[in-house]
Amino acid sequence: MRNKIVAGNWKMNKTYKETKVLVKDLMKQVKGVKLTDTRVIIAPPFTNLQKASKMTKDCKIEVAAQNMHQAESGAYTGEISADMLKSIHVETVILGHSERREYFGETNELLAKKVDTALAHGMEVIYCFGEVLEDRKSGNHFKVVEEQIKKGLFHLTSDDWKNVILAYEPVWAIGTGETASPEQAQEMHAFVRELVAQRYISDVAEQVSILYGGSVKPGNAKEIFSKEDVDGGLIGGLMILQRSLKRYK
Ligand code: 13P
Repeated sequence: MRNKIVAGNWKMNKTYKETKVLVKDLMKQVKGVKLTDTRVIIAPPFTNLQKASKMTKDCKIEVAAQNMHQAESGAYTGEISADMLKSIHVETVILGHSERREYFGETNELLAKKVDTALAHGMEVIYCFGEVLEDRKSGNHFKVVEEQIKKGLFHLTSDDWKNVILAYEPVWAIGTGETASPEQAQEMHAFVRELVAQRYISDVAEQVSILYGGSVKPGNAKEIFSKEDVDGGLIGGLMILQRSLKRYK
């Protein structure tokens, strides 16, 4: 059975002090929730990862990084390596978020390298993809997503996919308040699962969790998450993450 996952991408929010408060609150909430098949992942900024990782050591919350460099080490000012993340017990990394693609020029080709490095270090990857509004309007969204998945991930072996989580984040729905309808999310998730099934064996497609991200709110989380091919959410709004967790109570 596929894992259900509720993940929070904190983006560039929360100082060290604020992180302690938020993690404490989330830990309290998670305590009261039945999470047999559900994973809870938080991705705070780099400066707060170690603290969050230490605080959550003995609880259900897992900690992920929001990005990582593809090289092992070296002259890459301002960057963070897989080894550095692993040294503070961070085993999961978000790669290919649309904000990284848009503002930092991350391409599918570069992301393929980052994915390789993360997997070579035994890390788990949350690989984000999704179309911009113009692509959706022109009916190009399936083509764009197909390219993001193929170029970023289709060089992997079936075995590699055990450490891959997918996250469909239509760019037009991120932070805009506009959400993909549950049907639109399901349609894209099913399309992606079928793509994976065609390239690999159907077992790979069946086991990969595909999250939805883009203005998930307490009011729509339940309906979106209940769709057959939607295995949870990648949520940007921190208050919303707190409230969405309550839905599992
Ligand atoms: P919002 O939940 O703020 O739309 O952000 C989604 C997102 O970008 C998660 O990675």
